Amino acid sequence: MAMNSTTEARTGANPAGPRHVAIIMDGNGRWAQMRGRPRLLGHHAGAKRVREIVEACPDLGVRYLTIFAFSTENWKRTQAEVAGLMSLFRRYIQREAQDLYRRGVRVRFIGDRIKLDPKLITLMDDLELLTSGNDRVHLTIALNYGGRDEVTRAAKRLAYEIEMGRLTHKDVDAETLAKFLDTRVLPDPDLVIRTSGEARISNFLLWQSAYAEYEFIDTLWPDFTAAEFGRIVHGYAMRDRRFGAVKAPA
Ligand code: IPE
Ligand code: IPE
Ligand code: MG
Repeated sequence: MAMNSTTEARTGANPAGPRHVAIIMDGNGRWAQMRGRPRLLGHHAGAKRVREIVEACPDLGVRYLTIFAFSTENWKRTQAEVAGLMSLFRRYIQREAQDLYRRGVRVRFIGDRIKLDPKLITLMDDLELLTSGNDRVHLTIALNYGGRDEVTRAAKRLAYEIEMGRLTHKDVDAETLAKFLDTRVLPDPDLVIRTSGEARISNFLLWQSAYAEYEFIDTLWPDFTAAEFGRIVHGYAMRDRRFGAVKAPA
């Protein structure tokens, strides 16, 4: 959605709005606990919020949406919660695949697949393939994702290329390293939103968010709405991103 011209003139900052928004979907467990219900119920309620947020993206001018679904640290939870989440991911993909496809959503997964159940990996591969021709919204789901893990895996692959003689140490720069990241085809996030009141990034998109704007909000993820998402996205336009430079006086 275009900002009106007065807002543009006032800020001069980000009239176009964020192209890529990343969300740390936090607070499912507390949402359920507040209702005296099991944590998994909160995860189910949280999963239901995703569709509305994806659907809100085109009108807000958000082309890329990346959501944090499961971190490399989330294996520390009880076996029951982890198993419940994995089964939720499988069912989510099965239930939503056709709808995502029809709505022009291109789905990608980032994170290390090696620890995931083969059945889940097949569903992820199939959904990526099914939606590979779509271009309306690019939805990336971070599943068994950790920023440090991603950079470590990238460094390992880069080292392998050097070992094989296909690259030399002189080729190692930020641009080359980024080509080995899971996010290699995505632009960096402009805005990172975290729900549930925690002001930390918990290992999410460490490399890619070097210059992202952050928004920490108290709403628990299952209560997050398209209206609140829209307010945050519009608020982004008021931010002055300098990327370390000093603006020339007008
Ligand atoms: C976020 O909600 C979802 C995942 C991490 C899978 P939480 O499960 O972390 O919810 P809280 O933080 O315990 O409330
Ligand atoms: C971050 O939330 C991971 C996801 C939202 C998937 P956590 O709830 O795992 O983060 P911490 O433990 O509070 O830092
Ligand atoms: Mg949490």
